[in-house]
Amino acid sequence: MIILTLLIALILACLGNAAADRLPNILLILSDDQDVELRGMFPMEQTIALLGFGGALFHNAFTPTPICCPARTSLLTGMYAHNHGTRNNSVSGGCYGPHWRRALEPRALPNILQQNGYNTFFGGKYLNQYYGAGEVPKGWNEFYGLHGNSRYYNYTLRENSGNVHYESTYLTDLLRDRAADFLRNATQSPESGDAQPFFAMVAPPAAHEPFTPAPRHEGVFSHIKALRTPSFNQVKEDKHWLVRTSRSLSNETIDTIDKYFQKRWESLLAVDELVATLVGVLNETQSLDNTYIVYTSDNGYHVGQFAQPFDKRQPYETDIGIPLLIRGPGIAPESHVDTAVSLVDLAPTILAWANVSTPAYMDGQSFHEILLSKERRIPFFERSLLIEYWGEGNVNTYNPECPWAEQDRLSQCTPEVDCHCQDSWNNTYACLRNIRHREDRVYCEFRDNENYLEAYDLQLDQFQMTNIALDLLPIERALYSLRLRNLTHCSGHSCFL
Ligand SMILES: *[C@@H]1O[C@H](CO)[C@@H](O)[C@H](O)[C@H]1NC(C)=O
Ligand SMILES: *[C@@H]1O[C@H](CO)[C@@H](O)[C@H](O)[C@H]1NC(C)=O
Ligand SMILES: *[C@@H]1O[C@H](CO)[C@@H](O)[C@H](O)[C@H]1NC(C)=O
Ligand SMILES: *[C@@H]1O[C@H](CO)[C@@H](O)[C@H](O)[C@H]1NC(C)=O
Ligand SMILES: *[C@@H]1O[C@H](CO)[C@@H](O)[C@H](O)[C@H]1NC(C)=O
Ligand SMILES: *[C@@H]1O[C@H](CO)[C@@H](O)[C@H](O)[C@H]1NC(C)=O
Ligand SMILES: *[C@@H]1O[C@H](CO)[C@@H](O)[C@H](O)[C@H]1NC(C)=O
Ligand SMILES: *[C@@H]1O[C@H](CO)[C@@H](O)[C@H](O)[C@H]1NC(C)=O
Repeated sequence: MIILTLLIALILACLGNAAADRLPNILLILSDDQDVELRGMFPMEQTIALLGFGGALFHNAFTPTPICCPARTSLLTGMYAHNHGTRNNSVSGGCYGPHWRRALEPRALPNILQQNGYNTFFGGKYLNQYYGAGEVPKGWNEFYGLHGNSRYYNYTLRENSGNVHYESTYLTDLLRDRAADFLRNATQSPESGDAQPFFAMVAPPAAHEPFTPAPRHEGVFSHIKALRTPSFNQVKEDKHWLVRTSRSLSNETIDTIDKYFQKRWESLLAVDELVATLVGVLNETQSLDNTYIVYTSDNGYHVGQFAQPFDKRQPYETDIGIPLLIRGPGIAPESHVDTAVSLVDLAPTILAWANVSTPAYMDGQSFHEILLSKERRIPFFERSLLIEYWGEGNVNTYNPECPWAEQDRLSQCTPEVDCHCQDSWNNTYACLRNIRHREDRVYCEFRDNENYLEAYDLQLDQFQMTNIALDLLPIERALYSLRLRNLTHCSGHSCFL
């Protein structure tokens, strides 16, 4: 009897191992500047059905830095910006400068996965200052990287060994086709069923400026206006300098941003099709059950909140909240995750799927384990996340078409929206995003001439209309401030608060 039990246990263990011996594939789709707070996922019905209802929908996912290059760097390295050193979208701010190539590329996710046997693919916007020179970035077997920032037409891609210019192919569609080819290639097993696992990352330009939809989607949302949240076009006195000194938006500016809001949604329809096509290819090739599919964005976006026309770079929920949907082996369909997670957690999680432990230099934590819960409402863990941002603005960001002076060090002063400046040197802050039992708050300290403080209770004040920083109990404020100080200097395990 005992022997029989042992024998059965042994057989079961072997069967278990046989299944576990196959490492899963990973498909990561990263959109650009897609909010959740202003219903940025609304146009993406197929994505919500396939990945959200087919897997887990995250309700508290955040970017660690609400701007492209630093956020993408955090995703690729698992590090907060104070550790990876990419602080803005310029080479001088660490966006694909020598430090990136020398120190970060070898430690980044694709390189680790490739060294652990993964066949890797990249297609789309990589880092804002990537211009196709030199070798293809380390870690990618197949590389189709966009030169510079997001565009929809008239762009150049580094396609493996050469640079190719495209005038009139809609970029999202081209990426859909390249990624679909790669998935077909990668799932074709040369021998019986022993294909190498793959990691494919697809980064379409939507919903980034200039918000160009595919021709087939033009006008689909022409009846829609930018969401009129209670904060829409409200100039609030209890905000930091850049926001507090904003002027109301003119009617012309409101018309402009209504148009942008429509086009943002329209540009996402092609991304929704891309997701559905790639899920379809995985289904056809019998790879769906062994592939983790992640959908997320680098940062959020605001359109008109607190009279800020259209941008990210602010510490509010519109800008720091991001979509996150994950489908894959062991993840129960229709599950919901309330635990706060950050883009820095993605690399550790993906490595856990690939059976690689988190390197000590990564500041994120794998959330793989919590996804294996069989409950629909996945058990909740308390987290305090760090959001950090270094305001852009120096004498070179001066716009002579606008009435401000060079030495003001303002930036993103856009004539088409009345010269509202959307960033400044002193829009520099660190925030603690606390999601704990009975607590859903954000606490921010600005590094400006006033050491300005902002805090919001998101349970009571979803739209952040009332700054409660000065109403906090002194002990609460001291605790937040200490935690924040710890996080702004943390690395690896000391970031787990
Ligand atoms: C995962 O790693 C462990 C320990 O290194 C190893 O024993 C196991 O075989 C690995 N599993 C797979 C599927 O590679
Ligand atoms: C394409 O982009 C280049 C700069 O990258 C610009 O000089 C050119 O005018 C653009 N062409 C069109 C048709 O927009
Ligand atoms: C897929 O394989 C074909 C044939 O080997 C090759 O020409 C093509 O470049 C591959 N495409 C991708 C995106 O991997
Ligand atoms: C702006 O639009 C509002 C609402 O449509 C209207 O009441 C107001 O008169 C307009 N202001 C100007 C200056 O045209
Ligand atoms: C996969 O393909 C099968 C057969 O065509 C279909 O019934 C099923 O709905 C597809 N699953 C997904 C998730 O697309
Ligand atoms: C980007 O960051 C670097 C390094 O901190 C700084 O010198 C530069 O002025 C920043 N760029 C802008 C536009 O603020
Ligand atoms: C922020 O910078 C602007 C422009 O340089 C300056 O006028 C303003 O006083 C500064 N405010 C704070 C709070 O630092
Ligand atoms: C901050 O870090 C110190 C040293 O690691 C630790 O003792 C302290 O408890 C931390 N404080 C908070 C509020 O997390």
